[in-house]
Amino acid sequence: MTEIRAFNDETLALAATTIRSGGLVAFPTETVYGLGADSFNAKAVTQIFAAKGRPSFNPLISHISSFEMLEDLAVPDSRAQALAKKFWPGPLTLILPRRQSHSALDLVCAGLPNISVRMPSHPIALALITAAATPIAAPSANRSQTISPTCAQHVADSLFGQVDLILDGGACKIGVESTIVNLTTKDTVILRAGGLSKEALEEFLGEKVLLSQGNPNLPTSPGQMLKHYAPRLPTRINVTPSMLAEDEFYIGFGVMDGNLNLSPSGDTTEAAANLFSFMHQAETQTLHPKIAIAPIPDYGLGLAINDRIKRASYQG
Ligand code: TXA
Ligand code: MG
Repeated sequence: MTEIRAFNDETLALAATTIRSGGLVAFPTETVYGLGADSFNAKAVTQIFAAKGRPSFNPLISHISSFEMLEDLAVPDSRAQALAKKFWPGPLTLILPRRQSHSALDLVCAGLPNISVRMPSHPIALALITAAATPIAAPSANRSQTISPTCAQHVADSLFGQVDLILDGGACKIGVESTIVNLTTKDTVILRAGGLSKEALEEFLGEKVLLSQGNPNLPTSPGQMLKHYAPRLPTRINVTPSMLAEDEFYIGFGVMDGNLNLSPSGDTTEAAANLFSFMHQAETQTLHPKIAIAPIPDYGLGLAINDRIKRASYQG
């Protein structure tokens, strides 16, 4: 049975007990809702893959609330420590060499020698991890290949019956998933554009950060698979108002107004926060059988938005 409960002291204790006893808890982060289980409980981690219909070769991010937890999971070098100190808690996931001593992490890492770790900034996420006193493995709380959830209702729509408890903490502020950076090579490579901009990373590191285009047939980060963020209706991108067809539901941006507008003022941060919720609305409305999205600039969080909508429009 799935329970949706508002966050308070009592539901926090219940959620922590659920994690400790091997259950699944969906919880808010500043990016999207996560579907969490104890990273060190292989049986619980298996349940995540089953609930999402996710292939077991696709590894999971472990969420931590302290730097001590990082040391339990990974072997961070000085570059990793500097990035973590600067951008955590926040929407940055680091891929690092894993601690080999814990075989319980084999499932979380999908057998890879690396582990992905993130310290989220959402107070509910931090409180839950601290109360459970263990790292929490959590993919986005949606069925595999569907749009990520940015509110508790999205989780319920996608995973009802598959999760023990949904902690309702309102809408996610950032609205796109974390930026994933691979730190296991000499270059700093973004595997998935996300809630932390490439510009912010480059400014801090004082050097160019590479953007992995990925090989869709051999993804380093399975989030690179082309058909990943799939809405239920055919979707076109880079559509200006003059190109719009009558049967298309139009998601606008800036002066290109539509049925919805990601950001009337043309702000990519505001647009990211609205993106998944608008895509949910677009695919559940019944007046238009198709979706069209306005062009979005490729700077700031626009990079993450364009990555997601490109995949949403992919005709495989
Ligand atoms: O914002 C986020 O990152 C959210 C919240 C809940 O934290 N989580 C999230 O998880 O988006 P998920 O599983 O939906 O996407 C994580 C991506 C996947 O594409 C996975 O393949 C990749 O990260 N990944 C995880 N661990 C990895 C590893 N060790 N090496 C390479 N890629 C990894
Ligand atoms: Mg996901």
